Amino acid sequence: METKSGTNFVLKNLGPLILLTVSVAMSTRGESNQIIVAGAAVTLACPHQRSSLIVWQVYLKNGTSCYVSYMSEGNKTQKNCSKNVDWVSTPELDSTLLIKSSQMSNEGIYKCSTLNNNGTFDSEHVLTVLVPPEVSLTQDTNGTVVCKATAGKPAAKISWIPPGDSSTASEILPNGTETVTSIYNTTSAKENNLTCFISHPAWSKSYILNISQVDNEKIKISTILYITLSCLLGILLLSVFIYLWHFFYRRQKKVMENKGPETISRQNNQVN
Ligand SMILES: *[C@@H]1O[C@H](CO)[C@@H](O)[C@H](O)[C@H]1NC(C)=O
Ligand SMILES: *[C@@H]1O[C@H](CO)[C@@H](O)[C@H](O)[C@H]1NC(C)=O
Ligand SMILES: *[C@@H]1O[C@H](CO)[C@@H](O)[C@H](O)[C@H]1NC(C)=O
Ligand SMILES: *[C@@H]1O[C@H](CO)[C@@H](O)[C@H](O)[C@H]1NC(C)=O
Ligand SMILES: *[C@@H]1O[C@H](CO)[C@@H](O)[C@H](O)[C@H]1NC(C)=O
Ligand SMILES: *[C@@H]1O[C@H](CO)[C@@H](O)[C@H](O)[C@H]1NC(C)=O
Ligand SMILES: *[C@@H]1O[C@H](CO)[C@@H](O)[C@H](O)[C@H]1NC(C)=O
Ligand SMILES: *[C@@H]1O[C@H](CO)[C@@H](O)[C@H](O)[C@H]1NC(C)=O
Ligand SMILES: *[C@@H]1O[C@H](CO)[C@@H](O)[C@H](O)[C@H]1NC(C)=O
Repeated sequence: METKSGTNFVLKNLGPLILLTVSVAMSTRGESNQIIVAGAAVTLACPHQRSSLIVWQVYLKNGTSCYVSYMSEGNKTQKNCSKNVDWVSTPELDSTLLIKSSQMSNEGIYKCSTLNNNGTFDSEHVLTVLVPPEVSLTQDTNGTVVCKATAGKPAAKISWIPPGDSSTASEILPNGTETVTSIYNTTSAKENNLTCFISHPAWSKSYILNISQVDNEKIKISTILYITLSCLLGILLLSVFIYLWHFFYRRQKKVMENKGPETISRQNNQVN
């Protein structure tokens, strides 16, 4: 019921508006591109503030449309756009539109048409929403380092310092964001420090991630050292053991040798 009356309202009022646009020489038109980072609020201005009729028509990127309108006669407002698209304050004071938290689904063309005694005015905004990616830099055991920018819009750009043997691939996700993965082969890398630069229009500066293979080398060196030390310690302990064993064995042998004649003499004594 409400949608129907909304349709009627828009049609009834847009009819003369369209006619006026054609016939009135003073009609003006403004256009702008609004680029915003997802989650941020955006205001879309409609240049002529006090009007008898203000209609915001929204053509969303997914093919659907909606409107937000105001008529001074009877102080009537109507809309069928989503909750987060509304007037910035009250339309009788301000015709500006506010998107509280812009999302990819809000992307599209926002067209404002106003009507007052001086004529009709159109202004159009093209809204683009940027989604910053999630970033990561990881080291694989098979000699590769992976730099990843997940679910960004548009796709992020990845570069390496030092530039080396790397390959970059991107994958488009169902929701329109893109994941970019760059794999760096460290086998022939001459330097130990690897830096991955990720740039994206949602950021003012590149994201810098670095990884030090020195740690890896250090781990290898220390492992070798540990093994060597353990071996040396083992050998040392073994030598000590052998030495001690020999020492005691000989002593025992000596004792045995010393004991030998005694027993014999004792035996001799018994005989005697
Ligand atoms: C809003 O109303 C217009 C005009 O009646 C219609 O074309 C559009 O599909 C409606 N949009 C939504 C989201 O209901
Ligand atoms: C129009 O309506 C708004 C709220 O819907 C109200 O704040 C405002 O005072 C009204 N203006 C007039 C002139 O009635
Ligand atoms: C288009 O986007 C709007 C706003 O998010 C949503 O309400 C509507 O269901 C979507 N329509 C389609 C066909 O995806
Ligand atoms: C019409 O234009 C005149 C002069 O440009 C301006 O003073 C007046 O406020 C305008 N009227 C409306 C309703 O915008
Ligand atoms: C290296 O390992 C990663 C994951 O651990 C794998 O995706 C990649 O294909 C491997 N590369 C080769 C050449 O085996
Ligand atoms: C898009 O999809 C990916 C994975 O399905 C998800 O991680 C990401 O948050 C989504 N982004 C948006 C803006 O919906
Ligand atoms: C890295 O490059 C070397 C030769 O430069 C190659 O033998 C090796 O397979 C590569 N490793 C990966 C994971 O692509
Ligand atoms: C690598 O980084 C470490 C600290 O993270 C630094 O001490 C070292 O000098 C760097 N090496 C090179 C070759 O840049
Ligand atoms: C990357 O390297 C820079 C200097 O070379 C250093 O300031 C920064 O802390 C490093 N970042 C990480 C995550 O190690």
